[in-house]
Amino acid sequence: MLRFYESQTIADFYVKYRPTYSKEVANVVVNYLKRKRGIAEETPVVFDQLIDIACGTGQATALFAPFFKRVDGVDISTEMLKQAQQQNVFSHVTYKEGAAEKIPASDHSADLVTSAESVHWFDLPKFLHEARRVLKHDGCLAIMGSSFPKVIEPLKLPGGNEYEMGKFASDLFIKCLLEGKYDVVAYNHVFNKYKDIFKAIPSNTKEYNDDLTLHFQWTLEEVVGHIKSVESVQNLLIQKTKEFEELGVEVTEELLKPYDLGERFRGEVKAAWKVEDIPESEVLIHGEHEMFIILMSNFNE
Ligand SMILES: C[S@@+](CC[C@H](N)C(=O)[O-])C[C@H]1O[C@@H](n2cnc3c(N)ncnc32)[C@H](O)[C@@H]1O
Repeated sequence: MLRFYESQTIADFYVKYRPTYSKEVANVVVNYLKRKRGIAEETPVVFDQLIDIACGTGQATALFAPFFKRVDGVDISTEMLKQAQQQNVFSHVTYKEGAAEKIPASDHSADLVTSAESVHWFDLPKFLHEARRVLKHDGCLAIMGSSFPKVIEPLKLPGGNEYEMGKFASDLFIKCLLEGKYDVVAYNHVFNKYKDIFKAIPSNTKEYNDDLTLHFQWTLEEVVGHIKSVESVQNLLIQKTKEFEELGVEVTEELLKPYDLGERFRGEVKAAWKVEDIPESEVLIHGEHEMFIILMSNFNE
């Protein structure tokens, strides 16, 4: 196996380069749960149990943890769970292996089930069936997603047209992801901001919120890391590694270079922005993602 995969798994990139969510995201979800329980928004409450499905390295789990007495983060990937455990700062948060379609929790035990950036990978009817099983009768489900960055623009570069440079980088970011090996159905759900998923959910209480935009300040290095944390980008490298592997490590590493989409982004942006001589940690970038949140509190199956 090549050095790249020995040293850097998707979970390593994920924990380092995936942005965390803002407290406004937590407020939208927790206020919905309060509203459904007849609790005023300004009343501080700590609910009993949260289950965060497909928790990955725990970004959303940690966001919601302060609002619950007990929290389970569940994921099918042991690599992701290992990183989640290493990052965990809460004694009431536990990470466990399990699938969205077979949630490791007892019936009617949770006040809230969350799933962030993940539902597009699930068997949706099976997940909804399981969410219904594990939720208390007055429990809520919150499904969150975010768009690929819609803005990646440089901050404070000498003499540049920041709008044009930003458009170049934002378009290139999407182009790189689409050159990866991706699941068309899953990506379409993200491109249409989970609107098809929202339509498919059988509930007369469901709500859809796409009012929030997440803003980030990144360095060029962090944007490249973010690209490398995307599954389609890693999948392409894994597929090509398998194709070239028997040619030996050195030849394979050389042949892989054009398929390393994070590196391609780095090279093309540095040239277009004329920042080859500036350390990447000093190339500051403003990034924006749109959030979309589906909320529901009962199921009409
Ligand atoms: C893009 S990450 C999202 C992680 C985290 N929720 C966040 O917001 O950063 C997607 C996660 O979904 C997990 N996953 C994919 N399909 C799953 C399934 N059927 N059941 C449980 N986890 C799943 C993957 O292992 C991965 O950790």
